[in-house]
This record gives sequence, C-alpha cells and structure tokens, in this order.
Amino acid sequence: MVDAMSTIDAKTPLPTAPGLWTRAFAGLYDPVLWMSERVGMRARRQELLRYARGRTVELGSGTGLNLPHYPDDLGELILTEPESAMTAHLERKLRRSGRSARVLNAPAERLPLDDGSVDTVISTLVLCTVDSPDLALREIARVLRPGGQLLFIEHVRSESPRLAAWQDRLAGPWQRFAEGCRCNRATVELIEAGELEIEELREASWRGMPGIVKPLVAGRARRSSPTRLSCTQVS
Ligand SMILES: C[S@@+](CC[C@H](N)C(=O)[O-])C[C@H]1O[C@@H](n2cnc3c(N)ncnc32)[C@H](O)[C@@H]1O
Repeated sequence: MVDAMSTIDAKTPLPTAPGLWTRAFAGLYDPVLWMSERVGMRARRQELLRYARGRTVELGSGTGLNLPHYPDDLGELILTEPESAMTAHLERKLRRSGRSARVLNAPAERLPLDDGSVDTVISTLVLCTVDSPDLALREIARVLRPGGQLLFIEHVRSESPRLAAWQDRLAGPWQRFAEGCRCNRATVELIEAGELEIEELREASWRGMPGIVKPLVAGRARRSSPTRLSCTQVS
C-alpha cells in the first residue's frame, strides 16, 4: 500500500500551491546549510546512514541532502516529503544521483505504508518540524517491523535554562522563518515517551548554525520485539 496519497475523498483537503516564502525556503535550503554541511553535518549524516538496512523510509527528505550517504546495498529506499516545493529539488537530486528510490508525497503523521513493513526509518531535522510529533512517532512505530530501527539526527531543546529561555522567546519568529521548525522542542523526551527504545544517543553541536538550534542529537531507537508471554499452568 504505497499510493494512498492519490486517493482523494470529501475529507481530504485539496493540495494548494506553495506560497512564495515556501518556494524561496526550498530554494535557499542547500545554500543556507552549505557551511554547516561542510563543517560537520555531512560527516554526521554519513556516519548515521551507514547503519541503514533493508527497506528504508526517510521522513521529510527535503532537498535530498542524505541521498549520497545511503549504503549501495540497501534493500529499498522510499523518500517521503509532504511539501511539493521541496519535492521538486529532491526529485532533481535523485535523478542526478543515479540511485533508485521512490518519492512519496506524505507527512510523517500519515505514512501510506503497511504495519510492520519497514526495517529502517530515517529522520534528520524533521521531528522538529512535524505538526504532531506524537502522531509521527506512533506512525514510525507502526510501520517498523519488530526490531526495526529509527535513525535520527535532530536539534533539540537545550538543557541550559538560559538558552532554553531564548529558544522559547524566539520560537514563534523562528517557526515562521524556518517553515514550521520548533527550536524549543524536547524531541528526545518525546521519543522516550513513545513506543521506541533509544539504544544510542550522542550529543553534538550543529556547527555553522545559530545557537537556538543547538544542541544536536544523533542516535538510534528500536521498536522492541513482542515479548514472549510465559504461560504458567494451573492445575
Ligand atoms: C529542516 S527540513 C529537513 C530536510 C532533510 N531531512 C534534511 O535533513 O536536510 C524539514 C523537512 O521536513 C518536512 N516536513 C514538514 N512537515 C512535515 C511532516 N508533517 N512530515 C514530514 N516531513 C515534514 C519539510 O517540508 C522539510 O523538507
């Protein structure tokens, strides 16, 4: 089941053309990130994505900055992205890469994929932007096979009270500037509260970017395998 986005019923809002800032943001995304990619982010993506295995679904793929870093022997790659202005850049980069992948127009909160059908989900700088992270995390757990993994790099709310206060103060303007990004979201806590178990978590700094989108965390969370229930016989 992968083409659910093509079914439109009375409740499905009709797609609207992206606004001027949305198109500008998509066009400026790579140039704005260029320095931060050079001074560390590209290496971080590479380090994370070498753990991708089997059927892999990337959330909010944006302009496709992860594309060069996927292992060659990946089972299947599905790139999801709900914003058509971003998808235009993504499809161009995908064509140039020579890699085979499917692009799906879908939000992380509503993935048109079957339950337990995915080995790896990738989220880089996406859980800060989705409207409903709880729903997105439930969707991730739903599509992952038992034992499947979420690989993530996200900027998160700072533990420094001073920086967190600035993140709260600037959250509104930043959200408008960065197309929905919440600089004060406590994403690690949200992952921990859901159905995935964090197995590895490393903190870093997103060099080349403003202080309000620091710190950065990179890690892996797993959907636990169903627990075997032991039966006690009562005579
Ligand atoms: C900061 S960009 C990150 C792009 C890319 N993942 C990267 O690492 O460069 C956030 C992306 O999430 C997408 N996005 C926004 N809302 C989303 C949602 N509900 N589900 C999935 N992606 C979403 C945006 O369109 C954008 O492409």
